[in-house]
Amino acid sequence: YPPHLIRNFAIIAHIDHGKSTLADRMLEITGTIPPSQAAVDRMDEDQKNEQVLDTLKVERERGITVRAQSASMFYDHPDGTKYLLNLLDTPGHADFSSELLRSLLPSQGALLLVDAAQGIQAQTLSVLDEARKRNLTVVGAVNKWDLVKDDGRGEAAVKELSALLDCEEDEILRVSAKTGLGVESVLEGVVARIPPPPPYVEAEKLRALAFDSYYDSFRGVVSLVAVVEGEIKKGDQVTSTTTGLSYPILDLGILSPREISIAENPVVASRTLRKGMVGWVVCAMKDVKDAHLGDTFHHTHAPMPPLESFEPLKSMVFAGCYPMEPGGFPKLEDAIKRLTLTDRSVTSNRESSSFLGQGFRLGFNGSLHMDVFRQRLEDEYAEEIIVTRPLVPVRIVYKNGTEKIIDNPDDFPDPGEMLKVAEILEPTIRATIVAPEEYTGAIINLCTAHRGVPLSHTYLSTPSSAHSAARITLVYSLPLSSIITNFHSTLKSLTSGFASFDYEEGPYERGDLCRMNILVNSVKVDALCSVLHRSAVQKEGRDWAKRLREVVPRQQYEVVIQAAVGSSIIARERVAPMKKDVTARIHGGGDISRKLKLLAKQKEGKKRLRERSIGNVTIPLKSLYTVLGGQ
Ligand code: GTP
Repeated sequence: YPPHLIRNFAIIAHIDHGKSTLADRMLEITGTIPPSQAAVDRMDEDQKNEQVLDTLKVERERGITVRAQSASMFYDHPDGTKYLLNLLDTPGHADFSSELLRSLLPSQGALLLVDAAQGIQAQTLSVLDEARKRNLTVVGAVNKWDLVKDDGRGEAAVKELSALLDCEEDEILRVSAKTGLGVESVLEGVVARIPPPPPYVEAEKLRALAFDSYYDSFRGVVSLVAVVEGEIKKGDQVTSTTTGLSYPILDLGILSPREISIAENPVVASRTLRKGMVGWVVCAMKDVKDAHLGDTFHHTHAPMPPLESFEPLKSMVFAGCYPMEPGGFPKLEDAIKRLTLTDRSVTSNRESSSFLGQGFRLGFNGSLHMDVFRQRLEDEYAEEIIVTRPLVPVRIVYKNGTEKIIDNPDDFPDPGEMLKVAEILEPTIRATIVAPEEYTGAIINLCTAHRGVPLSHTYLSTPSSAHSAARITLVYSLPLSSIITNFHSTLKSLTSGFASFDYEEGPYERGDLCRMNILVNSVKVDALCSVLHRSAVQKEGRDWAKRLREVVPRQQYEVVIQAAVGSSIIARERVAPMKKDVTARIHGGGDISRKLKLLAKQKEGKKRLRERSIGNVTIPLKSLYTVLGGQ
């Protein structure tokens, strides 16, 4: 397919501004997927949310797209030309910005969507930033036009977006992905305004960028590639610049949105994936570990240097993960293995806790990413799972110049080791918050309480009509650790849902961190220890001790729960011993049949398997699950 008839683009937007819906509509209009408008009208609300590009169950439940997926479509332009449009669908949350980068890489342009009723939001700014960094041509569109009709909010959004993109208001497309209004103009806009990939040069050597992959138990790894130079066809021998391993190309094609082998497609006459095209290849790669995002393939006989690639994914939030069921470890391991094949950004390593036994330490891009994975894991594993408190990677720099990064609170230096430590560094983020001006005070207070340092404070817009209040953009530097638990939800509730928030990675900075241990009758519960800023220790210590007191059942003896930093005790709670039930002795026994007794005994045995002992105290795992935030 000649490059001048190809357009590679991504749809970028704040979460829920309608990317997947627009992608579906474009696939429908081009006949790539069957038209469904009539069918949609007959569907109930639940079914309507089911979208072609959101394939995984959790994504539907949460309404977010987690995996970037691309789809190619053939578009019959009104002038009679047939274009090949390669759409790279991107997920919509800060935690997944690595996936966003992945889909922007092979594109020449991006369609920036803004919800007509909400206007520009924090993530609109950050995704635009990424697109600009990559010199992409950005086409602006205001979506959900059906919601605003003629009430002025739509035009206010157009104004805001044209100012942001520094273009004329009439260059902004007005669209309703829901009703189909203006979707044709999006297709035309993509063709007219986004540049085609560079032209194909005869005998050019192959360089193909692998930007995503998935696993198929029958064929092995299926890699999604963007052919940046040259061409690739069935039977070619290719080599990975990352691993040096060579593979024969067994099959290849485009995604539209299902895999279409090139051999079967009458439109792609050349039977090759040529420069500018995006597609899938199967090359007898059996081990998922050999599939590297950002890898460059070249022909084995014509070595080439790798293309500029994206940075490897970094895990920024870690948590321990343990089965609650006795003997559940192998099953949990299996479930984690299956899921990490579909979400390669999760890292997993075995670990063991003296309290919880064998488990895993999982690493995520962020806390939302962790929540989504946890829910998926519980679905996959079909049992409750204990997930320990999240921790960000903490850098410990020693006086002798060495340093280590810890991802488990239990590895935090104890007071003795602290004498050798020069400084402790923690990751920060650069947070962008967009909100109506009236919430400025509340947001500043929230950021200050989370150890934030203000960086900038600007007006996004001034009131232009009765329908748009002045809105501000606040930029703060915040420690990542302070926002991973409830920052986002507090921000939402403080601003009645009007504030939006996004962040990018900042530098590591000094943090006065310490380890808080939880002791039960003087024995440490490793699964409950945490790394905290010293200023938060008092409150957290009291909270944890109290919460634990509520779930630890009474025992024969008194149970003392303590929160401690080093040898100083922060909080102390007490669970009184059971009173001896004398009547039970008198009335119990005699009238229960042997069988009932046996059953009760068996039940007791099962219960015990779901308990753990710390010293002389028995704690049901379910209590720990509750304390750690499981439902
Ligand atoms: P993420 O993938 O989670 O970032 O979301 P998204 O940007 O892909 O948004 P999605 O397409 O899932 O749409 C979010 C919600 O907005 C859904 O409930 C859609 O039905 C709705 N929606 C999308 N486009 C329109 C539109 O043009 N009009 C109206 N009224 N609703 C729309």
